[in-house]
Amino acid sequence: MRETAVTQSDRLRASASPGLKGSTAVPGDKSISHRALILGGMARGETRITGLLEGQDVLHTAAAVRALGAEVERLGEGSWRGGGARWQSPADTVDCGNSGTGVRLLMGAVAGFPIEVRFTGDKSLCSRPMNRVLDPLREMGAQADSSEGGRLPVTVHGGTLHGISFVNAKASAQVKSAILLAGLHAGGEVEVIEPAPSRDHTENMLRAFGCDVAVSETPHGRRIRLGERRALTACDVEVPGDPSSAAFPLAAALITPESEITVTDVMLNPLRTGLLATLQAMGADFSFANRRSVGGEEVADVTARSSILRGVDVPADRAPSMIDEYPILAIAAAFAQGTTRAHGLAELRVKESDRLAAIIAGLRACGVEAHDEGDTLIVEGGAVAGGGHVTTHGDHRIAMSFLVLGLAAREAVTVDEAGMIATSFPGFAELMRGLGAQIEAIR
Ligand code: S3P
Repeated sequence: MRETAVTQSDRLRASASPGLKGSTAVPGDKSISHRALILGGMARGETRITGLLEGQDVLHTAAAVRALGAEVERLGEGSWRGGGARWQSPADTVDCGNSGTGVRLLMGAVAGFPIEVRFTGDKSLCSRPMNRVLDPLREMGAQADSSEGGRLPVTVHGGTLHGISFVNAKASAQVKSAILLAGLHAGGEVEVIEPAPSRDHTENMLRAFGCDVAVSETPHGRRIRLGERRALTACDVEVPGDPSSAAFPLAAALITPESEITVTDVMLNPLRTGLLATLQAMGADFSFANRRSVGGEEVADVTARSSILRGVDVPADRAPSMIDEYPILAIAAAFAQGTTRAHGLAELRVKESDRLAAIIAGLRACGVEAHDEGDTLIVEGGAVAGGGHVTTHGDHRIAMSFLVLGLAAREAVTVDEAGMIATSFPGFAELMRGLGAQIEAIR
């Protein structure tokens, strides 16, 4: 991987940079990459994947699917093939590293096979709640042993499952996906009702693999229901660029004076574009070119130019479409004129870190006034002093966000544990340097 020069314990420092310029492409979408490996590993026939994100999170999923008995082979950069199989109990515990998506989707996928799988992860993942997935899987007939509070390690005993009608009150795509993947082997109706829709990559990909999935709008929200045909047949998957990764160079260009950059091949699935809409409402100068479809998803080349931003209120119902983007939104808000209030952020407390707390602590360390009121984040924008040493709590998105802040602040910003960036965005520092960003490793 390109980030090999940076190890787990390396710190990175970002300092005031000249205008960012150039065109670049970010790695493949993380959500789609996990799903392609899992579905490819369950489907009959050979699946070819191009543009796969080769970040640590996805590599853990690749290893897990292989340990479950499927064929998974890397052919070249981003190019993988997989052959499905009847999954078997793996010889060892499956380690999903830092990845909530990996572990939660896999717990659902294994539940429909008559096998026993013990899952674990790194310190952060072992502290995250799993009952949100284990409860519906138990309701479907799976057994799961976990410590109190449903933390990893968890052993899932799969078997004969029955249907479920589940209301996805947290708007979690991971929970919805776990239920749909378990449902592939369940008897009876399997449906998920979403009062607020979450990203729909699992539904889309299940269809591409030949499975019947009906989506309808009801008075209670969006209903996703598996049909009769639930067998998966291999198909090719082309992974578009990850909008959650593109967010970092795009936001960096907005706040760094005299910048103009283009990120090519950015996926614009409407359930993932909440950040772009919010930044536009703040005054961001974006343009979109070359709109097309890649792997069934809308994709475009996005250009961002330095912009004068103003604070806005971000409504709670936008959270599902930008749930991973609040750290970088908070950085843009720090450079905006006036106050930004982002509502409905309870889920941020159970991400790779308590992101609400990490955002506020990092902003304060950089001289920006920020606080929370319940589940609302409040950031007072203006001139940003910088100069902070930011604790990332092992969270890749906190690390990248504060490095972006350092590019436009008066004083340089240091982040610890930059190696974690490789979970989702291998090559981040090099890509940013290629645009003119001053980011250096501190040994
Ligand atoms: C993801 C869903 C989101 C998101 C995560 C990826 C997915 O989590 O934060 O990074 O690929 O399904 P939740 O389902 O917990 O909201």
